Amino acid sequence: MDRFKAIGKRTTRLEGPEKVCGTSKYIRDLEFPDMVHVAIATANVAHGILKSIDVDEARRQPGVIDVLTFEDIPGKNQMGDIVPDYPALLKPGDKITYVGDYVAYVAAETEELARRAAKAVKIDYEELPPVLTMDEALRDNNLIHGKSNINTHYVVRKGEDDPEKMFEGCDLVLEETFFADYQEQAYLEPQGVIAVIDINNIFTIYGSMQCPYYVQNGVAEVLGIPYSEVRVIQTETGGAFGGKEDVPTYFAIPAAIVANKLKRPAKLCLNREEDLQLTSKRHPIKSTYKVGVTDYGRVRAVKVEAIGDMGAHATLSPIVLWRSVVHAAGAYDIKNVNVDVYGVYTNKVPCGAYRGFGSPQVFFAMESMMDMIAERLGMDRLYLREINALEKGKMTPTGHLLDEAIGAKETITRLRERSDWERLQKDVETFNLEHRFVKRGLGVSHIHYGVALGAMGQRLDASGAFVQIFKDGSVGIQIGGTEMGQGAKTTMALIAAEVLGQSVDRIKVYQPDTAFVPDSGPTVASRTTLFSGNAIKLACEQLLEKMKGMAADRFMIDQADILIEDGSYCNSENRSQRLSFNELASLGDTDNQGLSATGWFKTPKLTWDTKNGFGEAYVTYSFATNIVEVEVDMLTGHVQVLKAFAGHDVGRAINIDGIYGQVQGGFVQGMGYALYEKLKHDKTGHLITDNFNTLTIPTIHEMPEFGVEIIEAPFSKGPFGAKGIGEPALIPAPASVANAVSNAIGKRVTEIPITKDDLLNLIG
Ligand code: MOS
Repeated sequence: MDRFKAIGKRTTRLEGPEKVCGTSKYIRDLEFPDMVHVAIATANVAHGILKSIDVDEARRQPGVIDVLTFEDIPGKNQMGDIVPDYPALLKPGDKITYVGDYVAYVAAETEELARRAAKAVKIDYEELPPVLTMDEALRDNNLIHGKSNINTHYVVRKGEDDPEKMFEGCDLVLEETFFADYQEQAYLEPQGVIAVIDINNIFTIYGSMQCPYYVQNGVAEVLGIPYSEVRVIQTETGGAFGGKEDVPTYFAIPAAIVANKLKRPAKLCLNREEDLQLTSKRHPIKSTYKVGVTDYGRVRAVKVEAIGDMGAHATLSPIVLWRSVVHAAGAYDIKNVNVDVYGVYTNKVPCGAYRGFGSPQVFFAMESMMDMIAERLGMDRLYLREINALEKGKMTPTGHLLDEAIGAKETITRLRERSDWERLQKDVETFNLEHRFVKRGLGVSHIHYGVALGAMGQRLDASGAFVQIFKDGSVGIQIGGTEMGQGAKTTMALIAAEVLGQSVDRIKVYQPDTAFVPDSGPTVASRTTLFSGNAIKLACEQLLEKMKGMAADRFMIDQADILIEDGSYCNSENRSQRLSFNELASLGDTDNQGLSATGWFKTPKLTWDTKNGFGEAYVTYSFATNIVEVEVDMLTGHVQVLKAFAGHDVGRAINIDGIYGQVQGGFVQGMGYALYEKLKHDKTGHLITDNFNTLTIPTIHEMPEFGVEIIEAPFSKGPFGAKGIGEPALIPAPASVANAVSNAIGKRVTEIPITKDDLLNLIG
């Protein structure tokens, strides 16, 4: 059983002590001599045409060093990577498309002075009526960008072509419309960057971020300089959750433009209000589902039409909504699938990446349908999922034939045992008979999730690593993937420790730096363990060969007879012949062995037909099941989640505490989406929920009792079989919590978040 030395073993989190002691370097902790502070002057108008910009008054404000406008951009005036619809600074004649569009950058002596002066930038504009709802956007008579407000449309077509014939032979067909609203990432640390022209005379960007390479590319393009002259170093990052995927680029750009003009370091840090108003959210998605089953509960046909609100700029929407289309029909083996997902522009804050990337919204809908079906059939909810679940030899809803063993069904069966499902149901029934105004309910959800960037993002799906062994035996690792609180550094060190036989506390994982590791793609999509992990494994395997070779030479035996035991390389025939890792490292130095190596990991090409949305969407899938018990106060609408059981097929558990952390944190984040976190815009397109006094997120008081089950169905291409857990931790939660609330109150929740007031309205 215990065939692993390091992985799956509990260990101290690598960067934990510094975080706990407060010595970690976050962006706000960094200062440079002669540094200026940057604030962004925004349009403050949701829709219009910019006539002119007046910076005179702003320039006269105390502490102001300069006010920059579009003329100060030396390269491309563009921030949007996929769709060129997001200028770095608007110029007269441009369309204003939301209140947060940039019109000027103010450089001042302090953060507060910069912020104050930014408010003094005046613009003249012709106002247009703002488009604030998806329904209005769809009418297409008030256009935001180009010829239509509909920017994105994806489909999945599987089985029967004719959507009506899909349901022939079904014994039960249910239809329902769902709405899942915005959600804010609510990372602890707001966005922040510093741009410095360094000793090499190149632009160095420090910042809180997930994706240093995105920042590098974006900054080089607006400055019009070679990529080699932009270096990005990630500072310690206090949470991200997708909110620091593309977004930090939109702050690195202003800082870099200012640093370029003034030739001084430029810092741009947002306060919470600015962060909430200017950064992307989870997409509101409205979806209409039609699901048909046979009377044995086999799901036979799923038809979905969904629309996502992209906000004013497409940013990452085209790939977020592709996740929605791939996952919309659920985690089941279904004969007929017909999905359409649209993305529409509105004059509101852009929507983008958020843990789960367009999938929690559709799983909320699909898994609500599954509970509705179970109710109508009088069938056990877990059993309904189990008989429809995916397994080896079956096809996903996009027609991806699963040719490896997966743990989908086990996430269901293991949770049935862990939760004592039969008993749990009886206890809830008994409780409800005894209580009139407090009701309990149970909810279930089951999901799959494509790991990494998938067929639409394969161009970015590769990662590098550089590993060196120092002569004292300590190990330094550089990767392109970032630590943002998820535990990636510890996971990476465990993989290196497993291969090399060195102990984890002798391994250092450095902050990512684009100057030293080739473009490794973004740290997103639950891909870091798989991609950076494999890159490290490949590098370490080369070093292992060298170390084994050195030991074999010393012992005058065959390299194949070297065994690693307790941190030493020994002769498997004569264990007393041994050299510690540290001794070998020192020998490597005297022997000029060059104990460093690089690793580069990519996955085989996926076969995908975009027109029909059919084929191998992702390299592999993680699977998860939730069982949730809630208690609803029928008089106040207060919901308490009492118990949360979560079963996750992670392929292989490398960083065990990291997984528990991800699962518990992810669940609570998804629970917050289902119950509390409502974001509201006013009629002028301003977000009025602009701090944590109005945006309610879960606290320690809302934490349920957890029962976590980790299932290991190894993935052949994963490092030691590992897949991903970052996003699957959250994805099933909104659905299971909403289902539990529906079960408790006896009415169907079709919109989330369902806050106290919404719930009281629904109870009636
Ligand atoms: Mo993540 S939502 O894929 O940045």
